[in-house]
Amino acid sequence: AQAAQGPGTRFPFEEIEAGSDAHHHVAPGHDAEILIRWGDPVLPGAPAFDPRNQTPAAQSQQFGYNNDFVGYFPMPGAADPAAHGLLVVNHEYTNEELMFPGLGRQDTKAADFKGMTRDLVDIEMAAHGGSVLEIRRQDGRWTVVPDSHYARRITATTPMVLTGPAAGTERVKTAADPTGRAALGMINNCAGGTTPWGTWLTCEENINYYFSGALPAGSPEAANHKRFNLPARAYAWGRYHERFDVAHEPNEPNRFGWVVEIDPFDPTSVPKKRTALGRFKHEGAAGIVARQGQYVIYQGDDERFDYVYKFVTTGRADSGDRDLLDSGTLHVARFDADGRGTWMPLVFGQGPLTPENDFASQADVVIGARLAADRLGATKMDRPEDVEANPKTGKVYVMLTNNGKRKAGEVDAANPRADNRFGHIVELTPDDGDHAAPGFTWEILVRCGDPGLAAVGATFSSATTKDGWFGMPDNCAVDGLGRLWVATDGNAPSRTGRNDGIWAMETEGAGRGTGKHFFRVPHGAEMCGPYFTPDDTTFFVAVQHPGEADEEDPKAVPATFEAPATRWPDFDPAMPPRPAVLTITKRGGGRVGT
Ligand code: FEO
Ligand code: CA
Ligand code: CA
Ligand code: CA
Repeated sequence: AQAAQGPGTRFPFEEIEAGSDAHHHVAPGHDAEILIRWGDPVLPGAPAFDPRNQTPAAQSQQFGYNNDFVGYFPMPGAADPAAHGLLVVNHEYTNEELMFPGLGRQDTKAADFKGMTRDLVDIEMAAHGGSVLEIRRQDGRWTVVPDSHYARRITATTPMVLTGPAAGTERVKTAADPTGRAALGMINNCAGGTTPWGTWLTCEENINYYFSGALPAGSPEAANHKRFNLPARAYAWGRYHERFDVAHEPNEPNRFGWVVEIDPFDPTSVPKKRTALGRFKHEGAAGIVARQGQYVIYQGDDERFDYVYKFVTTGRADSGDRDLLDSGTLHVARFDADGRGTWMPLVFGQGPLTPENDFASQADVVIGARLAADRLGATKMDRPEDVEANPKTGKVYVMLTNNGKRKAGEVDAANPRADNRFGHIVELTPDDGDHAAPGFTWEILVRCGDPGLAAVGATFSSATTKDGWFGMPDNCAVDGLGRLWVATDGNAPSRTGRNDGIWAMETEGAGRGTGKHFFRVPHGAEMCGPYFTPDDTTFFVAVQHPGEADEEDPKAVPATFEAPATRWPDFDPAMPPRPAVLTITKRGGGRVGT
């Protein structure tokens, strides 16, 4: 404990205790305030939240469910760019048992969707997508500017366009859209990124959950859908909207699973699905400018045994080209046992990506990016989540959340643990310090889990306290000092004796590998966001699905609207728990976590 908090640490804040209760906790000397909750008004004229009288129309004007990625754009010309800007927030998915009174828990195995009416489905569709909020800090406190003309809700039905190599091709055409360019809505948007040209990248992840039905026999999409574990039949949408039933619309799934680019400063702009970046279960899309000026976007595909990708634009990030992301090269990573790695291009006509192997065009390569990466022999990873570059050091951090399905005979140097229940973090160093380079070296920063249990094989530094270790790294952020902050998904009393939260993670010097607990979520929640203002004075964090039961605790009662595991953040018996975004600031000002 001494070393973690003593001189020499780059994280001098006072660590919080790991644990689990109904509330959130932040390091002493900081304030963590609720900025916006599920149901709060977003659009001018939005009705007040009434959980017992929800409607699709109301939800489409209110803050959506399960806030995940958070990005901040300073308002151009603002007197203080860290006190006035636009906040963009993903609404990843919905928990109907916690949202709707009287519904109870759905039997997802049976997929019978008892009680799921068209209205409830349409509320769910309106609760997905994203929000754009104008926010301002006055007298130290952040608030959402009411009735802002920037305010926007994006949902599962918002008109969008497909751009890049798959746009307009046969495999993305449907009965409703014979052009193959006019997609409707975005779903399961997990993490994302912000670009230097002022746009929001928001990433579609587990899109297979929303589809039901059975493909027609002999469908040419069979292998593609199977590789995406689709349809997974977790939502009732296909019952009321035929496009989510693959028997009726086998191509609709090919219109999801993309990175979506949105201009938050133009509320009338049409979101663009950038197909050049590939179609898979995108976690995030954090980018950095390469030595020659190209923009490089690192991407994880969040599935057990799936891959790490990067996209390198053809043009320069500062070219002024608003469609920069339509031209470039998608690559997938191979991690070799000698600590070297290679970015392999996913380009039609190169190597095995030819008609003999069912790739007839670059559209086939990007739609079936996983199948193309399989052909190239990419390294099967333990669920790649956020991948972020550190601009101070040039190193890149890959969060690998867990993989309980990896068997002893399937381990490799970059995924060295069988039954990897707690995940690990890999650090990449691009050759010549150039993110566009085809080669890199890599090493494991930390194997996660309880270092006190020898069988777990965790490798946190010896300076890490009983509170400082964590499992299941998911999202991450690098602050202006080049310090790494890790947000987790999957810690719970039954698994790690602690709730999810944020841990500071030392990457440099003698303290490398030291974790330190900074923020903790309430019962049942996952930690999302996190994102700093440019000067690190505010840290935005997103508390997702508060109130869920501890799934692996055999004594836990199923959590429902009537009986959630917590009623955070309102603690009002008439209110269900509500996912919410918080602002963390340091009392008296200054950088968070110093
Ligand atoms: Fe939506 Fe990969 O977490
Ligand atoms: Ca999530
Ligand atoms: Ca995530
Ligand atoms: Ca996750």
